[in-house]
Amino acid sequence: MTDWINNMKRMLIYNAERDFYAKFYPEVLEDESILNLRLLKRSDIDQLIKIEQQVYGFPWSAQTFKDCMKIGYSCWVMEKLGDIVAYGIVSIAAGEAHVMNLCVDPKHQRKGYGRKVMKQLISVALEERCRLILLEVRPSNQNAIALYHGMGFNEIGRRKDYYPAEKGREDALLLAMDLITEESEEEEYFASS
Ligand SMILES: CC(C)(COP(=O)(O)OP(=O)(O)OC[C@H]1O[C@@H](n2cnc3c(N)ncnc32)[C@H](O)[C@@H]1OP(=O)(O)O)[C@@H](O)C(=O)NCCC(=O)NCCS
Repeated sequence: MTDWINNMKRMLIYNAERDFYAKFYPEVLEDESILNLRLLKRSDIDQLIKIEQQVYGFPWSAQTFKDCMKIGYSCWVMEKLGDIVAYGIVSIAAGEAHVMNLCVDPKHQRKGYGRKVMKQLISVALEERCRLILLEVRPSNQNAIALYHGMGFNEIGRRKDYYPAEKGREDALLLAMDLITEESEEEEYFASS
C-alpha cells in the first residue's frame, strides 16, 4: 500500500513538472541532460507493457519482465521526467552477454535513445569481462539491423523458425560483436602474470 501511495505521489509530481516545462520552457523537454538511465523496478513494468504492445506484434508479458529481474538479468530503463522512453535487458553467462530486449517508445524513436541503451548493455558486458555480446533480430527489422551494424555487430548465423510470426514462424539473424581486442587481451595477460 505504501509503495502504491509513493508511486502515485511520484507520478503526480512528475506530471506537474512536465506540464510546467511544456508550458513555460518547452525546449527543456528536448534537453538530453534530463535523461536518466537506471535499473528497472517492478513498479515500471506497467509502463514497459504499454510500450511493448505498441511496438511488437508478439509483446512480452509482465511475467516475462518479472522473471528477467528474478533470474538476475541486467535490466535498464531510460526515463525522461518520470516517463520511461526506452529499455534494454542483457543476460550474462559463461563469458557471453546476450541482449534479450531493446526497445524505444515509438514517440521517442530516432533520437539516439536506442543507441544509448545499447551502449549501457555493452558497458555491463565489458564490466563483467564478457568476450562476446550476441543478439537475435528479425530479418524484417531493418531499423534495428541498421542500429546494430552501426555499433559494430556482425551477422554470424541464422536461427531457423526462432520467432512466432503472423503466418507460422520467422527465422532470426544472429548478430555478435567481439568485446576482447588484442590490447585488452595483452592488458589481461600482464595483469595476471
Ligand atoms: C530499433 C530501435 C531500438 C532503434 O532505437 P532508436 O532510438 O529509434 O534508434 P537511434 O535513434 O538510437 O538510432 C540509431 C541508429 O539506428 C538506425 N535506425 C534507427 N531507426 C531507424 C529508422 N527508422 N530508419 C533507418 N535507420 C534507423 C540508424 O542507423 C541510426 O543511426 P543514425 O541516426 O545515425 O542514422 C527502435 O526503433 C525500436 O525500439 N524498435 C522497436 C523494437 C525493436 O525492434 N527492438 C529491437 C528488437 S531486436
